[in-house]
Amino acid sequence: MADSTDRQHADDERFMAVARRLSLRHVGLTAENPSVGALLVQGSGATARVVGRGVTAWGGRPHAERVALADAGADARGSTAYVTLEPCAHHGRTSPCADSLVEAGVSRVVVGAPDPDPRVNGRGVEILRAAGIEVRCLSGEGVVTRPFEGFLQRLRFGRPFVTLKMAVSRDGFVGRLGGERIGISGRIANRQVHLLRANSDAIMVGVGTAVADDPLLTCRLPGLSGRSPIRIVVDPQLRLPLDAQLVTTARSVPTLIASTRNPDGAEAVPYRRAGCRLLRLSGYDRDDLRRLLHAMPSAGVQTLMVEGGPVLAAAFLEAELVDRIVVIRSPVEIRSSGVAAPDGVLAPNNFRLARRERFGDDDWSEWERIEPCSPESSPTLDALPASNL
Ligand SMILES: NC(=O)c1ccc[n+]([C@@H]2O[C@H](COP(=O)([O-])OP(=O)(O)OC[C@H]3O[C@@H](n4cnc5c(N)ncnc54)[C@H](OP(=O)(O)O)[C@@H]3O)[C@@H](O)[C@H]2O)c1
Repeated sequence: MADSTDRQHADDERFMAVARRLSLRHVGLTAENPSVGALLVQGSGATARVVGRGVTAWGGRPHAERVALADAGADARGSTAYVTLEPCAHHGRTSPCADSLVEAGVSRVVVGAPDPDPRVNGRGVEILRAAGIEVRCLSGEGVVTRPFEGFLQRLRFGRPFVTLKMAVSRDGFVGRLGGERIGISGRIANRQVHLLRANSDAIMVGVGTAVADDPLLTCRLPGLSGRSPIRIVVDPQLRLPLDAQLVTTARSVPTLIASTRNPDGAEAVPYRRAGCRLLRLSGYDRDDLRRLLHAMPSAGVQTLMVEGGPVLAAAFLEAELVDRIVVIRSPVEIRSSGVAAPDGVLAPNNFRLARRERFGDDDWSEWERIEPCSPESSPTLDALPASNL
């Protein structure tokens, strides 16, 4: 008995990993919906056969389960369904996916993670069990949820999932004082950064970085240039030069400027004429940063990559608004006149090392928050003034 359970659990891990890989295909392409993977499998062990595959379609509909059921046709009956997120339980333009799985005669369902959407929140599993279907819920952590961590973060805390990325020299600096631009990470690590950009809804920098480096902040990987996210500059005093690349390219890749200045005032006009949009930033407090973030999901931003610089990074860390830290340690030495890495980036408290890679000469490490941010430190949208995006 123990043996057959072990074998079944080994199958579950194997096929959930396949479903998860499927879900990666549409990350960033499913609007406010999560990119979910679904797999229908007949049999077990060495004779197991995949009869249906599905991933949430572009724009968010149809859901993965429906795609997989259509793929399997009559073969769905008696199969085991592997879905990375709990099947939905609410009526939208179509009936709930949980009902579709019941109607198709699926005999067992393995769920990667619960759906905290109040319209689902366990009801998808209830529908399946009420119909006599065996359901196994996995822990819902780690790699399975990563393709839709922005969706989960929006539902839990009303803000995007935030990844902070910093490249740090061997001697602990992130740049050179005096505005001289210096490349810290190497070519291979930079390509990984561009991949992170392609999978993010938005990239944010402080105006210090925009002035010092004049970055484009686009994804320039072959075939993925169309996946450049929107760019956000935190620029309270509107000191971003009008000839900065972020301004001059704003008509091809959107640029948003978060500023305390009047968005309809004379100072803002040239930026708006260049195609930039202005966001209202109330001030320099941690709550002001939180308000800015909580306004983002309504503008379609569920995943945000903060690319520095050190002042903005420190503000995010201090406000406990960072969910993942990506640190690239390079062999480059800056020696004197360096800009120091912000406290908490190199040895972050409350974060655990989740991934470590070698990319060329660079050491790439990813740190994930151990405890999710407390609701107190991340108030819901209801507790904050209306969206200013
Ligand atoms: N190695 C890396 O990964 C990396 C990444 C990015 C940048 N850098 C380097 O960092 C250096 C620039 O450093 P930096 O600290 O000046 O850049 P920064 O953090 O990009 O910009 C700082 C400015 O942004 C505004 N700002 C930041 N946080 C804010 C907040 N919470 N609320 C309101 N405004 C906020 C302020 O503008 P005002 O002063 O106008 O109010 C502040 O002075 C450059 O040398 C650059 O190359 C390194």
